[in-house]
Amino acid sequence: MDTTVPQPTFYIFKCEQSSPPNMPKPSCVNDDTAELFSHMAQTLMQKGIMGPVQPIQTSCLGRCQLGPVMMVEPGHYMYVKLTKEKIDKIIDEHIIGKKPVVEYLIDPEFWGEPVEL
Ligand code: FES
Repeated sequence: MDTTVPQPTFYIFKCEQSSPPNMPKPSCVNDDTAELFSHMAQTLMQKGIMGPVQPIQTSCLGRCQLGPVMMVEPGHYMYVKLTKEKIDKIIDEHIIGKKPVVEYLIDPEFWGEPVEL
């Protein structure tokens, strides 16, 4: 019997930063988007893939103007301007189907190659 605990297949880093009122900069969580990631968690649980898919709450991921955002790993797939419908499609096509939803990914103009350290 194999008793090894498997690694997660995917991590989903979800920006749950909210700004105080009157901040000039937008943030990913506001009244309109507050339910977004609980919807994602419920959907992952309903589909029985919570665990192999590990959602991680983060603060700002640096793309606030394009929020709400989340990044799927492996692969640095940054999804932007999220809605519940987009999250459903990302779960079905990227997480389960293993095909990233290209039309929801960040524009390469805002997601250049990483800085060489
Ligand atoms: S507040 Fe979400 S990316 Fe900055």
